[in-house]
Amino acid sequence: MEQRTPLLTCLQEHDKLHRSSFHTPGHKCSSFLPLELLRLDYTELPDTDALYEAAGAIRKTEEALSHLFHSGRSLISAGGCTLAIQTMLKIASDRGKTILFARNAHRSAVSAAALLGIDPVWLLPTGDNGFTGTIRPEEVEEAFRNYPDASALYITSPSYYGEISDIPVLSDICHQHGALLIVDNAHGSHLAFMKENLHPLHLGADMTACSLHKTLPVLTGGAALQIRSQAHAEGAKEAMALFGSTSPSYPIMCSIDLCVDYLLHQDGISAYQACEKRVESIRQTAVQCGLQLPSGLCDPLRITLNTASVGLTGKQQIAYFESCGIDCEFCDGENAVMICTPFNTEEDFLRLETAVRQMPRKEALLPRKRSFFLPQQRLSLRQAVLSPSVCLPVEQAEGHIAADTACPCPPGVPLIMPGEIISKSVQKELLQAGIRSIRIVRDKAGSTSPDPN
Ligand SMILES: Cc1ncc(COP(=O)(O)O)c(C=O)c1O
Repeated sequence: MEQRTPLLTCLQEHDKLHRSSFHTPGHKCSSFLPLELLRLDYTELPDTDALYEAAGAIRKTEEALSHLFHSGRSLISAGGCTLAIQTMLKIASDRGKTILFARNAHRSAVSAAALLGIDPVWLLPTGDNGFTGTIRPEEVEEAFRNYPDASALYITSPSYYGEISDIPVLSDICHQHGALLIVDNAHGSHLAFMKENLHPLHLGADMTACSLHKTLPVLTGGAALQIRSQAHAEGAKEAMALFGSTSPSYPIMCSIDLCVDYLLHQDGISAYQACEKRVESIRQTAVQCGLQLPSGLCDPLRITLNTASVGLTGKQQIAYFESCGIDCEFCDGENAVMICTPFNTEEDFLRLETAVRQMPRKEALLPRKRSFFLPQQRLSLRQAVLSPSVCLPVEQAEGHIAADTACPCPPGVPLIMPGEIISKSVQKELLQAGIRSIRIVRDKAGSTSPDPN
């Protein structure tokens, strides 16, 4: 029989599984957010303020957010972290189009860079055991020597696997070169409320784009741009208006209001710190069970289990965790990633602990070898992304110019970016990573023959 509400039915069916949610959003579909929010789906009216000219209630929410995160200025977004990233890159690119870019950038940043005509100078993260790793300060120093006019360094921290970059050192280097440190902190809004404040803004970043909805109790789509100094906030609203919808969702924005109230006035911070302790105990159990975890400074609320270290492939992990009643944030070829918040119940944590203890153990899988090269660039990012394109099987893509990114996970670092040539070695790496098709630039005549140069 035809379903009249296929999406609603799908969500209701999923809800009935009663799985423990170790994925976004941070409220974990608990009863924290009142149903009344749905009914209050108002719009911009004379008495309800306007997001891009906030001067009333929205401005007050932004001021409370700024107070909570100790920012010079906070801007809310109902268009996810994507909108905050677009805004942040617009502000940075007004100071200069050359930006040093960590290669593990989310696709929203790559698209924004293309739209803004930014020329990224790609920096490769260095890591081990199949995790993403971070950008080494020496590499940033060298990049500034080669590109002294670079206006900013753009990094993603924490990485999907929870690895945190050395923000104080990177910010010092940037500031010595008169550049901004701008951080995609999509996964780290809660870092301000850990026992040790690990939020990049606190550690020296100039701007951070934060997906509040990922780890705080905010409706999906709720995010913030946090700006350290008022000086960089000039023109920020106009920059956001350039990309954002003219109908921002009031329920999403109100959920940010409720989240701020929870953290400032309802013991929310203690709840986050109690969660930190609970997560640490599960991490220790995992280590005792022989599972590898990322090393170095990591997000205290994220559990990244290298299940390949006990012989489980990506597909096997998904099936295993589902059989334990658990939905992970994501499972890739080697790792399972869990996002924990105080909105997980003790029952959730017990399920996860039991799943870790009872995980079947086989011989460790050999980690995929990482490739550490930057392909040759033929077109600018902007030219490649805005050109007509076509999808080709990777087997036929050698010599073509990529029109999209292709990213194996692990390590979550794209092998190819738009505008770069798909060489024989890139083709081989793509195939080894299980990537079967790729979008390539079509030439003006519509032909898909390889680039002759
Ligand atoms: C690292 C990173 N940056 C940015 C984004 C975009 O965030 P949003 O979905 O809130 O727009 C994501 C989303 O998954 C992400 O993982």
